[in-house]
Parts: sequence; structure tokens; C-alpha cells
Amino acid sequence: MACNHRPPCLLAFFFFAAIASAQLSSTFYSTSCPLAIQTIRQAVRAAVAKEARMGASLLRLHFHDCFVNGCDGSVLLDDTPSFTGEKTAVPNNNSLRGFDVIDNIKSQVEAVCKQVVSCADILAVAARESVAALGGPPWTVQLGRRDATTASLDAANTEIPSPKSDLDDLISAYSKKGLSTTDMVALSGAHTIGQARCISFRDRIYNETSIDSSLATSRQSNCPSSGGGDDNLSPLDAVTCTLFDNFYFRNLVKKKGLLHSDQQLFGGGSTDSLVTTYSTNTARFFSDFAAAMVKMGNISPLTGTDGEVRLNCRKTN
Ligand code: HEM
Repeated sequence: MACNHRPPCLLAFFFFAAIASAQLSSTFYSTSCPLAIQTIRQAVRAAVAKEARMGASLLRLHFHDCFVNGCDGSVLLDDTPSFTGEKTAVPNNNSLRGFDVIDNIKSQVEAVCKQVVSCADILAVAARESVAALGGPPWTVQLGRRDATTASLDAANTEIPSPKSDLDDLISAYSKKGLSTTDMVALSGAHTIGQARCISFRDRIYNETSIDSSLATSRQSNCPSSGGGDDNLSPLDAVTCTLFDNFYFRNLVKKKGLLHSDQQLFGGGSTDSLVTTYSTNTARFFSDFAAAMVKMGNISPLTGTDGEVRLNCRKTN
């Protein structure tokens, strides 16, 4: 809309400038904790060298943090008498991992700067470093998030998209967080790394027709249709789960998405063309993924004097 009335526009300008100044900055710890980033980087590299999948797990932790009341480290909180944390929510229970690695990073960061670097920022940097360690694109991490003093089991159960979601559900789950359909498709490319449990894709490999039959057969061998095996693991991208590339999208165009929600991105709907583009243009996927990670990391951060900087990521101070 054009600016016709100068005074309100000026007011609006100062209002938004004030909001912007309360937002994140890439240099937030440059003077208060100059060793923070390299400490996190080294710890992530060591963890990924020990177990490549940990890179996937750390990336997912940041996603599950940001989608539940913003990127505020709430996902890391253990249950307390006053609230039930997010760890036992359906998308997280028996599934999220990497909490010990975050504890280890936090204690290393505390050793170089006491109570300066938030757990929410550690998750954001660890996600970036994980993707880098597995060959994915770089991005500039915005910093200055503070940690929540509470967590929400209910929000974790409702805000994180389910693997049973259809395309419309996925688009609206991201839109609620200020993320576009392009962001949603690009971010889903994270499923080129990591693994999923049988329970997350059983229905797809036994009951869906939009799946490559050789993929269905091969996954059925480690995921029985009944009688257990819920936690048996399979790589999400069908071949390797440790190299961050566009393999996920190359799979989708061949009906080799492992999750129902994955294949929805190439299921005859509005996102088919973008999936096709990413399947042949890794550079385009990388740049859209990096931009979307920055946007996701900006979801409702606590800044200024809101929240706190936790001493221990598992509990409030
Ligand atoms: C589009 C909506 C999404 C849905 C429905 C979804 C669902 C899932 C499910 C069901 C799993 C397997 C969990 C299990 O079986 O234990 C998984 C794994 C994973 N997800 Fe997503 N996800 C979505 C988006 C994302 C995003 C945006 C990211 C990161 C940017 C992400 C990163 C990962 C990673 C890296 C893994 C593997 C984790 C590991 O191996 O520990 N996902 N996701």
C-alpha cells in the first residue's frame, strides 16, 4: 500500500524499527562470547564424526523447537511438577535424539562463557553446523534468542506436522509460522538425511499406491505390517542418510518418498513443479533451504529481557 499520510507512516516506521532492534543479530556474541560459535562447531563435528546420523538429529531438534511457541529451547526442558515438557509429545517421544550432545555442547560453552549463550541459540548453531558437516549449504545464523521458562506438551502435539499430513495441512502448518510453501518444500529436503521408525511409514508401505513398489517391498522387510517392529529404523532418503544433497527430491519424482507427507510434495498438487526443479538443481535447493532455515530460526524468538539464559538446557534456572 502506498504511503499517503506521512505522520502515521513515520510512526509505523519507528514502531517497526523498534521491533527490528529487538530482533536477532549475527554478531550477538562477538564481544560477550567470541569463542561460542567455534566451541559449538567443534563439538558438533566431533559428534557427527562419531555418528553421522547425529547431524540429522540435531537439525530436527531445532525444527521441533521452533515450531512449538518459537525457537526458545523449550524442546530441551524435562518435565517438572508445574509443566509437562515436550519430549513425550507424539512427534517427539522415542524419536527426538541428541539431548546428550546438546548437554555436552552446553557444558563446553559454559566453560568458556558462563550463562551468556542460550540453549535456543545453541540449537540454531548446531543445526547449521550439522548441515555443514554433512555437505549441505552454509547460512548466517542469527543469534540472541533467549530460553523459555516453560514448555508446552499440547503445542508440541498440535503444531508439529504429522507424517500423515496431506499437502494442504503441510502448507497451512508452515503458513501459521510465517513460512511460505517454498520454505516448506525446501525445508522438507532435510529428509535427505536421517532415519524414520517403521511406525511413521508403515501405512504408506503397506496401503498406499503412490509408492514405488521396490521401495515398498524393501522397507517391508524391516517393518512388519503387524506384531511389533514400531521402532525399526529405515533411512528417510532410500539410499544414504548421511549426505546432505538433493537426493530426497530425486526420490520424490520417482514415488520414493518414505513418509506419506513426503510424497504429498510430489503428488499432483501445486508443489510438483518446485520438487521437479530441486530434483535437477541442487544449487537452487541449497539456496532456498538456507534462506528458509534463517526464516525458521526467526520464529517468535524471546529477546531483550524476556525469558532467561539457562545454565542447564534441561531445566529452568
Ligand atoms: C514437512 C513436515 C515434516 C514432517 C511431517 C516430518 C516428519 C518426520 C518424521 C515422521 C520423521 C521420522 C521420525 C521417527 O520415525 O522417529 C522425521 C525425521 C526427520 N526430520 Fe522431519 N518432518 C517434517 C519436516 C522437517 C523439517 C522442516 C526438518 C528440518 C529442517 C526435518 C528434519 C528431519 C530429520 C533430519 C529427520 C531425521 C532425524 C534423525 O534421524 O534423527 N523434518 N520427520
